[in-house]
Amino acid sequence: MISSYKNDHENTIFTIHTANTTYQMKADWYGTLLHTYYGKRVPDGDLSYIIEYPAPSFSGHSHIARTSWNYSPDTYPQECSTFGCGDFRTTMIAVRNTDGSRGLELCYVDSEITEGKYSIKGLPAFYGDKDEAQTLRITLKDRVYDIYVHLYYGVIDKYDIITRYAVIENKSGAEIKLEKALSMNLDIQFGKFDTITFHGRHTSEREFCRETVEPGRRSVGSLRGASSHQFSPFAILCSHDATEEAGECYGFNFVYSGNFLWEVEYEQMRQTRVVMGINPENFCYILADGETFETPEVAMSFSNEGLGKLSRNYHKAIRNNLCRGKYKLARRPSLINNWEGTYMDFTGDKLVSMAEDASKLGIELFVMDDGWFGKRDTDTSGLGDWVVNEKKLGCTLSELAERIKATGMKFGIWFEPECISEDSDLFRAHPDWALTMPNRGPVRSRTQLVLDFAREDVREYILNSLIKVLESADISYVKWDFNRHICDVYSNAFPAEKQGEINHRYILGLYDMLEKLTSRFPDILFESCSGGGGRFDCGMLYYMPQVWCSDDTDPVERTKIQYGTSFGFPSCTVASHVSASPNHQTGRVTSLKTRGNLATSGMYGVELDINKMTDEEKVGISEQVARYKELADLVMSGDYYRLTSPYDVKEPFACWEFVREDGSEAWVVDIYLRTVANRYPAFVKIRGLIPDAQYRINGSNETYSGASLMYCGIKLLHRWGEYYSDSYHITLA
Ligand code: DGJ
Repeated sequence: MISSYKNDHENTIFTIHTANTTYQMKADWYGTLLHTYYGKRVPDGDLSYIIEYPAPSFSGHSHIARTSWNYSPDTYPQECSTFGCGDFRTTMIAVRNTDGSRGLELCYVDSEITEGKYSIKGLPAFYGDKDEAQTLRITLKDRVYDIYVHLYYGVIDKYDIITRYAVIENKSGAEIKLEKALSMNLDIQFGKFDTITFHGRHTSEREFCRETVEPGRRSVGSLRGASSHQFSPFAILCSHDATEEAGECYGFNFVYSGNFLWEVEYEQMRQTRVVMGINPENFCYILADGETFETPEVAMSFSNEGLGKLSRNYHKAIRNNLCRGKYKLARRPSLINNWEGTYMDFTGDKLVSMAEDASKLGIELFVMDDGWFGKRDTDTSGLGDWVVNEKKLGCTLSELAERIKATGMKFGIWFEPECISEDSDLFRAHPDWALTMPNRGPVRSRTQLVLDFAREDVREYILNSLIKVLESADISYVKWDFNRHICDVYSNAFPAEKQGEINHRYILGLYDMLEKLTSRFPDILFESCSGGGGRFDCGMLYYMPQVWCSDDTDPVERTKIQYGTSFGFPSCTVASHVSASPNHQTGRVTSLKTRGNLATSGMYGVELDINKMTDEEKVGISEQVARYKELADLVMSGDYYRLTSPYDVKEPFACWEFVREDGSEAWVVDIYLRTVANRYPAFVKIRGLIPDAQYRINGSNETYSGASLMYCGIKLLHRWGEYYSDSYHITLA
């Protein structure tokens, strides 16, 4: 619920309440918009008594306050910080005015509260109709020039989500340059915090990293043109004492798939500032008179019940208020993908024979991965030529789809629309369609370049090529891949002074294309991929409800990857596959059961040469598929609990739980990551059950009360060997 009122001192107080949190700001006597409070819900009232105006030397006081020597933009808690007029901290917005000065001093103009959540033209955003969401707009204006900043707050009350984005509007009569246009600023006046960020590399995404906030700046981000494997655009600030179940935690989930910055500054007055938005490096956006710039949004959430609750807020909001389309809440089909089974060495007959075996085991969808188009038997050629290689398939695409469907399965296909091989007909015809710098050789990555998606003509050509393929056969699923990062950020279609806009224009172009494609094919299940989880972000999830979480299919490694992912994203977005053993990325040998338990903790698939499996293994797969069908709804919509951490060096196992919100059913999985001799017993306490209800575990005759399972816990099975895994299906007796 949003409210605003003017107090006796002519201050306007804005208060946002969600189910469990309160966010408050005040436009003060001078018109400065100050941040008052964000945290656990408190009753209505002016909380700005808490605002302190420290006046350290060397922090200048603002000219607007004349004789108030302690009114310093460098120390008071701001809602929308700007560079150049006295705030020396990291800031949210920096504007280069037409006179060359770099300054902006914002003053409150007006505000509006509306029902339903705002949307952003051309950008993905959480949504919510008037029964579940509200919007607050606060407009500020520069004290000198007619430059406006409209701050938007979207409130999804029941999930404790507050989103922010800003519109910068130039009415100054002249051109200005946006040199920094972040989406949010949060100033917290006191408290001792840790940051939790998720970093990694290809095949090792979202490793958990917790650090104490020390004086200075700590930032993570991407300049790779994609949100990246290296740093996730989701981060947490939490109290030192925060655990899974207790403590204060703030989450920041950026709804954007390109360059980003998340920065925390602990400053001289022991205040903590958090900013997030498009990375200002290699960014300079020219705003002509009359133009506006819309930042992407950041979805914030707060929990004072620890990290687990914070994650569940995001899980629910992403599932219900970000993902869209037919598959948003529907069970995703179990699938087999031929990539690790054949790589690019396949024929149509081979794929059909894999489909025949897979269909007998209950698998519902066959996905033909990379290698079916143009000249594409290795990754050195063919990208851009989205023409079916009928010679390789031995038939048309439509015929292949029909043959696969005749086995009882649906048919899906892989694309990498944003990239181009130099050895392709498309590149030979349009070398200027690739992002390359004038007079400089390009940086090649996986021997490919990136198409200039900032250009409409390029996008239109690629979109039409994809439509042609998708309309030529009965296709139920598309995997949209992106296998390199973007350097050589230069578009031949834009003038020199606009090159600082290209990274962002590329992402806007990508979103434009995804909107057109997904709305044209509403029955297709789209899966996003970027060499695995290199673009696992809320931006992509707005268009495609699931992501290939990592190219690392080793279940031991992937336990950590899915653990890190779970902090900001729900299991229904995590595509997870059983692959061959020894594993192709690590050589590790694991049991089919261990691989299956991990894959069933996400959207289940199989990615191996099923024709080579033994009869016993095939039975194992068919049992897993049946179990996935039974458990998928619980995994997709249940509450998720991390019962242990795979990073805990004192525990050899990782354990997690899905439980229905009403406590009627739970599924608990453990995976042993290390083997130790003379092993001590391992226990976990189950969460979210009904204390006085009776339950069975894996259909056994014995029953247990919910209270005993939650407070005494269960003893995990002890097995011999490496990397074993068990699961415990807890149902009402
Ligand atoms: C990277 C993906 O993550 C893989 O699953 C596979 O699709 C390859 N690209 C194909 O080139």
